[in-house]
Amino acid sequence: MTKIETPVAEKPIPGGKEVLVEFEDGIAWVQLNRPAKRNAMSVGLAREMNEVLDALETDDRCGVVVLTGVGEAFSAGMDLKDFFRATDGLSDIERHRAYRSTRAWQWRTLMHYAKPTIAMVNGWCFGGAFTPLICCDLAVTDEKAVFGLSEINWGVIPGGVVSKAISTVMGDRQALYYVMSGEKFDGAKAVALGLANEAVPKEQLRARTAEIARTLLGKNPTVLRQARMAYKYAREMTWEQASEYLTAKVDQTNFVDPERGKEQGLKQFLDEKSFRPGLGNYVRAE
Ligand code: COA
Repeated sequence: MTKIETPVAEKPIPGGKEVLVEFEDGIAWVQLNRPAKRNAMSVGLAREMNEVLDALETDDRCGVVVLTGVGEAFSAGMDLKDFFRATDGLSDIERHRAYRSTRAWQWRTLMHYAKPTIAMVNGWCFGGAFTPLICCDLAVTDEKAVFGLSEINWGVIPGGVVSKAISTVMGDRQALYYVMSGEKFDGAKAVALGLANEAVPKEQLRARTAEIARTLLGKNPTVLRQARMAYKYAREMTWEQASEYLTAKVDQTNFVDPERGKEQGLKQFLDEKSFRPGLGNYVRAE
């Protein structure tokens, strides 16, 4: 029987309510869409985001995910009303399911996503929003965006996995300072603290983020995925374990790479002398 393929152009766009997706030349702009609530993350948003990220992972229109917010906020963190007050009244099991659903996309899925991820911080970024920010591979921020570990200001600790996430990118002194003071800071400071790669003026934010995404789109996607995963897993290991794991990962990458990237790279550098790895990419087959 002939299999009927849905043409790419007719594929539905995932999300549409609290998460909007826009495709542009291989970039999926994934936007938290609760601007009136400063993109505070609700139970419904988590459900939708899980579906969206799941769909994009196998969608050819998406080579890189950019996570950002509609309006003036990246995200004002967990929705204090919808998430905390509303879930406080639920049974233990229901609360557990709500937390599991939000941690799924913010942490597990983004951290281990099959495609590169960039957080584009376009405004307010508080509390729980630090988790998806840090679990994206890279982050670019508006230099005037306002960040804060504001939990202490409203009587809770940085929960979820926020305290763990910040410990992977910030030094202990700095992390504890902001955990304990709840003081806000701007995009430039976020770069100094290791939370973002670059801070740029608002009017350059989208263009600079797209430029970084295009650089990633030019790489061998299999090797890029393996490299990201190798880094993330190796940092949790001892040196001995990392050395064994990385050696095996190099072999596995060769095995699963349909482009035979390493072979191509070596041939073009050593035999054909047609490129230099230090100065750019090997020529990928069309
Ligand atoms: N949870 C639930 N609702 C939130 C929210 C959150 N985290 N952040 C903002 N909102 C809601 C407000 O309650 C308000 O709703 P309303 O219009 O129904 O009254 C709406 O979003 C706009 O917020 P407002 O405070 O008026 O906007 P602002 O532009 O003056 O200030 C912030 C923006 C982000 C500084 C402020 O909303 C804030 O401090 N939010 C909480 C940040 C926080 O501590 N997050 C940590 C959560 S883990």
